[in-house]
Amino acid sequence: QQFRIAVIPGDGVGKEVIPVGQRVLEAAVAQEAQLDWHLFPWGSDFYRQTGALMPPDGVEQLRRFDAIYFGAVGDPPHVPDHVTLWGLLLPIRKQLDLFVNVRPIRLFPGIRGPLRDKGPEDIDMIFVRENTEGEYAGVGGRVHVGTPHEVALETSVFSRFNVERVVRFAFELARSRRKHLTSITKSNAQRFGMVLWDEIVQEVARDYPDVTVTSLLVDAAAALMVRAPERFDVAVGSNLFADILTDLGAALMGSLGLAPSANLAAAPGVPSLFEPVHGSAPDIAGRGIANPIGTVWAGAMMLEHLGLTDAARRILRAIERLTNEGKVLTPDLGGTATTEQVGKRIIELLDA
Ligand code: NAI
Ligand code: MG
Repeated sequence: QQFRIAVIPGDGVGKEVIPVGQRVLEAAVAQEAQLDWHLFPWGSDFYRQTGALMPPDGVEQLRRFDAIYFGAVGDPPHVPDHVTLWGLLLPIRKQLDLFVNVRPIRLFPGIRGPLRDKGPEDIDMIFVRENTEGEYAGVGGRVHVGTPHEVALETSVFSRFNVERVVRFAFELARSRRKHLTSITKSNAQRFGMVLWDEIVQEVARDYPDVTVTSLLVDAAAALMVRAPERFDVAVGSNLFADILTDLGAALMGSLGLAPSANLAAAPGVPSLFEPVHGSAPDIAGRGIANPIGTVWAGAMMLEHLGLTDAARRILRAIERLTNEGKVLTPDLGGTATTEQVGKRIIELLDA
């Protein structure tokens, strides 16, 4: 079996964690499959050379791959953050119609998270984030720019078709787990899109009588994640809300460097994109100490998506062994190891 994988390391620590992820994936699939990597040097350096973060036909170039392995983009203050995000990651998500962003959150054995009385059995949830519209629809504009009368509009877009497929995906996922779904909105203050979202959840729920549904307002959800994370199994939320809550979730795991995500394509034959949740981490970039686990785990999700479930499971088990032994960890987890050393140890533990 042969898979063609587009690799976009991007900026900052993206360039450090992606090569480590590639090596772990290579080791895990070994004889079972061949991974053909195709490197795309897109990102802020590319922008400085060409004036764009990727070529005009960039997304079209990605279409012929089986999957995309992505690091992070962002080079503040040299390139404004809205330029980097809208120049690369968001167009890929939108144009390939990567409709959901799946973000597992779990506390690994041996890691002490910030919640003293919560263990791995308490923190084990998956967020399903709406990934193509909502608050990041890009609809809006500015008038009377720079004057005291300036007004900026940032309009959210919620379409029935899209919300329904995202919610349905979340119900299916809940059905495969502990059969509990938490839907997160702010429908007391936002009267249109969020109310539509709540209604669709109620409608789709009729097809899943075996799944218990809880609807929470986003502020209450944030508090509950900290107070009682064990109440979350699968959670579904809008582009913005789930973005914020999954960084909170990553903090519950002990480090943002641990969290992975899968941006799944709606249509068959279109590549899905796998990336860590974190950004380019300019504060630690260039020092070789970024935690590669989120990227490695995202790679495991990619292998699972490609049908290489055994290799994916072995990677997850190796990560658990690594955190449990607690000897080779990067500074964000209180260790002194480098990105490379963590990758090397994960590979050793694949067959332990
Ligand atoms: P960030 O995720 O890059 O960093 C936040 C904090 O977490 C920093 O203290 C950083 O050192 C730490 N951190 C992140 N990844 C880590 C890792 N692998 N190991 C250890 N520590 C890690 O978020 P920030 O600082 O808000 O954004 C930096 C840049 O990244 C910005 O340009 C932003 O727009 C961009 N960004 C890009 C994303 C993407 O490409 N998907 C996602 C989030 C931010
Ligand atoms: Mg984020």
